[in-house]
Amino acid sequence: MKKKLLITGASGFLGYHLLRVAAKDWEVYGFGNTHNIDFGDAVVLQCDITNYIALGDYFEDIEPDAVIHAAAIADGAFCQNNKAKSYEVNVEATRNLAGICCDLQIPFAFTSTDLVFDGKKGMYTEEDVKNPLSVYGEHKSIAEEETIKIYPGASVFRLPLMFGHLEASYNSYFHKFLMQLKRGEKANLFSDEYRSITGAKSISKGILNLLEKGAGVVHLGGPERLSRYEFGLKVAEMFNLPVELLVAGLQKDFKTDTPRPADVSLNIQKAISLGFAPHSVVEELKLIMSQKYC
Ligand SMILES: NC(=O)c1ccc[n+]([C@@H]2O[C@H](COP(=O)([O-])OP(=O)(O)OC[C@H]3O[C@@H](n4cnc5c(N)ncnc54)[C@H](OP(=O)(O)O)[C@@H]3O)[C@@H](O)[C@H]2O)c1
Repeated sequence: MKKKLLITGASGFLGYHLLRVAAKDWEVYGFGNTHNIDFGDAVVLQCDITNYIALGDYFEDIEPDAVIHAAAIADGAFCQNNKAKSYEVNVEATRNLAGICCDLQIPFAFTSTDLVFDGKKGMYTEEDVKNPLSVYGEHKSIAEEETIKIYPGASVFRLPLMFGHLEASYNSYFHKFLMQLKRGEKANLFSDEYRSITGAKSISKGILNLLEKGAGVVHLGGPERLSRYEFGLKVAEMFNLPVELLVAGLQKDFKTDTPRPADVSLNIQKAISLGFAPHSVVEELKLIMSQKYC
């Protein structure tokens, strides 16, 4: 009999990939909130994770053997302008979920972000000092600390910028970028903003493989440190779209209320030593194009 896995944020971008990868080995339950999803191999329920009573009821009904917490307000600009809401979802609900999982003594994985760093150094290890620049990064950083304080056996996975299945990406930069190029429109991409960009399927596999190891804070990212512009070139070449449409830009020329770190690439040696084996960007793009991705 398969064990039961509960995935919060199942209706989101990462949740799409987690559900599909997990369904091979787990009986999967997912929470969505404002979006409905239909995935035959999982039971997907509506649950606002800020409702503590509803959370408790669902845990009693489902009796999960493990939880991956991928629900978040992940829109940096929204968090910057709606601090209280961001705190409620990204910090308080995370704290509640960690507490419930600690009481039940079941594996709990919190999905965090590379944006807990200020981007001045790059290739960050798990031991490097955090210094988030944005409200979103700050709240994810607080949630990390609360999670480990409440439940020292929990896992915190710091994730990079991800791309993935086009079906899952209606809201993502990757989907928007591809659509822009397909319409023949120019795309401005930073040549001075670096991330360990990775496919969401590689990340989902990594989270699932490490979920029950309780390895504390772990960086999951791709094997390459790429600027958004370098990533764009790889995508355009792979999808046979005109690279002349890509325009390299600099962060300083872009006005925004949400501060953006320059280089939040991640050192993934700890994850690799635990068995993490992410695809390169090109390998993952090939899988997406082959329709064998999820
Ligand atoms: N995508 C990336 O490149 C990236 C990079 C680094 C880290 N991460 C982290 O990875 C995780 C997943 O991100 P994502 O890109 O998949 O985000 P996303 O596509 O914006 O999805 C967010 C998910 O959270 C759910 N959610 C939001 N508020 C909720 C609430 N009050 N109650 C219940 N569910 C709620 C949403 O449900 P509804 O849509 O149904 O309302 C949705 O399923 C997050 O922890 C994020 O910080 C993502």
